[in-house]
Amino acid sequence: MLISRFHTVPRFGLPYTPLDFAAALAAIFGGTKLPDAFGLLGDSAKFWTRSGRQALRLLLTALDLRPGSGVALPLFTDPSLVSAIVSAGHRPVFIDVDPRFLTMDPNSLEAKRGTFSALVVVHLFGQMADIPALQLAGGEVPLIEDAAHAPLSYLNDRMAGSFGLASFYSFASTKYWPAGGGGLAVVNDASLARKLARATEALSSPSRIEELRNLALQAAKALLFTRELYGILGKPIRRWAEKWAILEPSLDLKAIQHSYAAAASRQALRFAKRVERQRANSLRLLSHLDTIEDIVLPRERPGALYNYHMFPVLLRDREERAPVMAAMWKQFVDTSMIYCDVVQQCRRFGYRGTCPQAESIVDRLITVPNHAALTSHDIDGVAQVFRSSLLACRNVKPSCSGLPVSAHNVACGVEMAGATSTSMQSALQREPTDVF
Ligand SMILES: Cc1ncc(COP(=O)(O)O)c(C=O)c1O
Repeated sequence: MLISRFHTVPRFGLPYTPLDFAAALAAIFGGTKLPDAFGLLGDSAKFWTRSGRQALRLLLTALDLRPGSGVALPLFTDPSLVSAIVSAGHRPVFIDVDPRFLTMDPNSLEAKRGTFSALVVVHLFGQMADIPALQLAGGEVPLIEDAAHAPLSYLNDRMAGSFGLASFYSFASTKYWPAGGGGLAVVNDASLARKLARATEALSSPSRIEELRNLALQAAKALLFTRELYGILGKPIRRWAEKWAILEPSLDLKAIQHSYAAAASRQALRFAKRVERQRANSLRLLSHLDTIEDIVLPRERPGALYNYHMFPVLLRDREERAPVMAAMWKQFVDTSMIYCDVVQQCRRFGYRGTCPQAESIVDRLITVPNHAALTSHDIDGVAQVFRSSLLACRNVKPSCSGLPVSAHNVACGVEMAGATSTSMQSALQREPTDVF
């Protein structure tokens, strides 16, 4: 079906199905036993948490650092990590990012060595950070991996979350497991696991009313994110809901909602297939956009395999962003400028302008839809809409052979690692089913 006002392409997919809703509702009333669905994240000890940010706060507390210790994190990430660090009684130390991969820059980390006692590495948008280089640059400090975007992303055949002392995931409604909220801490160290077990047992259960209210909001959000409703209702309402932070997790000491845990467990059962599809879509987008000049595309770091939770594109300059986004939405393809206010937010927590790359990225980044439910035909349409919008904005006429190869992209020297594996090729041929 064509992309139109009544069949738009929302910025993110929200694959929350009626059966997820039914499982969530049953969990509120029945307390059914949940399937052990998270074996796909390895064998380490796992603990449900209220949110990703709460998982980080509990993990930092369990590390028993001295109060007021520095905790290093990339400036370009979700600002909730900063609140988690501060609420654990510590001080954020902001590190710059590498614009090719949007993850923490080892050189910037090394320059701040000695000012932090723990390190939070974020695999942003599913793109693996260079953990070996960061461990060298950061020295012998405990490492926590933020894998909220990175379930089933790999570096050198090791899964995200398996490098550090611990890692955490999120089930918020824009994540790969959009259960509505909740998180999971995965702990690779026995003594830390014992401490986390005690901390999570002490969390209080949310009330049934709260569970029902949030479940209704999550179901409504999933409905508004359908392609049929997003253009006429979803996008206008989303702006309003974001302003009022509806469904935004808070950093309290409650346990995960039973309903979220149930929906996340169901979603985990179909997760690997979804990643396969979303990765195939992303590699297809990459191949379409490969020749455009002066943009940075999410090519895989050598040795890495991304889950492509999102498809970030770094534009040439800040002037380009608003017109490109507007032109794309005119053609009913929605984009986002995620984390665009992170620098202002972090200034309130002591950021003093030491991360020029991250500051430039917040003004230039958009995400382009790549969700698993989009067909190959949709992806071709999204690529075409992006290309024509950017060209119109740059006032360039397309040549019949496409645009010249970008010197910048070539300079990055990153190959499309593993892009043509047999399973990916076959996924490319298949159309998705409604489980996505
Ligand atoms: C990269 C990243 N890490 C952590 C979090 C926090 O997760 P939660 O919203 O479940 O607290 C987010 C939330 O958006 C995020 O984007």
